This record gives sequence, C-alpha cells and structure tokens, in this order.
Amino acid sequence: MKFSLAPIAVVTLSALSASAYTIKFVNNCSYTVWPAVGKAPNGKPDTSVRFGAKLAPKASTSFNVGDKQLGIRAWGRTGCDSNGANCKTGRCNGGLVCNDAGITSNCILSEYGFGDNGPQWGGQRTFWNLSRAGLSGKPSLPLNIPTRLKGPDGQTVACTSGSCPASQCYLKDSDHGAVRNSPLGGTFTHTFCP
Ligand SMILES: *[C@@H]1O[C@H](CO)[C@@H](O)[C@H](O)[C@H]1NC(C)=O
Ligand SMILES: *[C@@H]1O[C@H](CO)[C@@H](O)[C@H](O)[C@H]1NC(C)=O
Repeated sequence: MKFSLAPIAVVTLSALSASAYTIKFVNNCSYTVWPAVGKAPNGKPDTSVRFGAKLAPKASTSFNVGDKQLGIRAWGRTGCDSNGANCKTGRCNGGLVCNDAGITSNCILSEYGFGDNGPQWGGQRTFWNLSRAGLSGKPSLPLNIPTRLKGPDGQTVACTSGSCPASQCYLKDSDHGAVRNSPLGGTFTHTFCP
C-alpha cells in the first residue's frame, strides 16, 4: 500500500514539467543584478505570477511559468537596497518581489505569451521577444542592462547598445520583426551583460 503512491507522483511530475517553461537568469555583469518576473496581460498587473531574486556576478537562478500564461515580463534591476527595494534602474512597486509586474520599471524586458495560430503555424507555441517599446507615442525605454534572450530551440535575440536593431528588440509597438516563437516548454535564458 505504501508504495502505490510512487507511480502517481511520477505521472504528476512529468505532467508539470510538460506544461511549464523555465526562465533562467544568468548574471554575466561585473555588478549585482536583481532579476524580476511579473504578469501584466494588456498592461494590467496580476500578482498570481511573480518572482524576485538577488544575483551576484556570475550567479544564475531560474523560475518556472505555466505554458498558457499571457503577459509574462522579466527584467533586471540595478542598485537596489539591502531589501531589494528602491532600485536605481528597473525599479518597481514592492521589494525584492514586485507587486506591479514592472509596468513602472522603465527598462528593457523579456516578454512571453501563449499563442495558437492553428496547426499550419505549429499549433500551440510560446511567443516571445525583447522589448523597449514605450507606451504609444512615447520614446523607447532605456537599455538599463545589456541583454540577450535565448529560446528553448536556440533562437537568440540581443540588445546590447542603446540603438539595438528592431529585428532584435521592439523599440516601438510596430517592430514586429522582433517577435520569435518556440515550442512550449523548455528553458529561456535571459543573460545580463552577454
Ligand atoms: C512581446 O511578446 C509578448 C508575448 O507574446 C506580447 O504580449 C507583447 O505584446 C510583445 N511585445 C510587443 C512590444 O509587441
Ligand atoms: C560574459 O561576458 C564576457 C565579456 O565580459 C563575454 O566574453 C562572455 O561571452 C560573456 N558570457 C556569456 C555567457 O554571455
């Protein structure tokens, strides 16, 4: 009787890993970075998905997100206080873990969302990008930390200078050359100072 639970646990675990992707943050900067994840579909913060951490130079950390989530945003903060609050760049409302999904962070973001454009387009996919798009009509957001984002299938985009190409990162909402999509699951690597 005692052992009959084991197969159930295995099934549950594999079901979980098949329905989430991982955002892995790698800090390749010479300074500490405080990564954050939040959810804000259509710009509306939803605290059901959020994460914050402190990453020393060369350290890394990971966070899992359900495949069907929409409006997922990840970014790095610099110059925070000992509580991970009051950051110089990328700041949010909240402390180490943000309450506002970074809608006030004013910096480059990696963004992720579920989509299904039909079987001829690969069915269920994760759509993703780097974005510095400001609100419509507003200037693009500052590049607070040089950033590279690599998808689970090896596709890679990067923005490492203030004038990075629109094929790599949204500078405005119409830069659709910046969008990428990948199979569900797997690991996205968000590298600071690649
Ligand atoms: C980037 O991708 C996410 C997820 O698909 C999407 O919600 C977001 O609108 C995209 N960014 C821009 C600037 O279009
Ligand atoms: C880390 O940064 C160095 C330059 O400072 C670069 O040569 C190296 O490729 C970077 N590593 C990663 C994993 O981005």
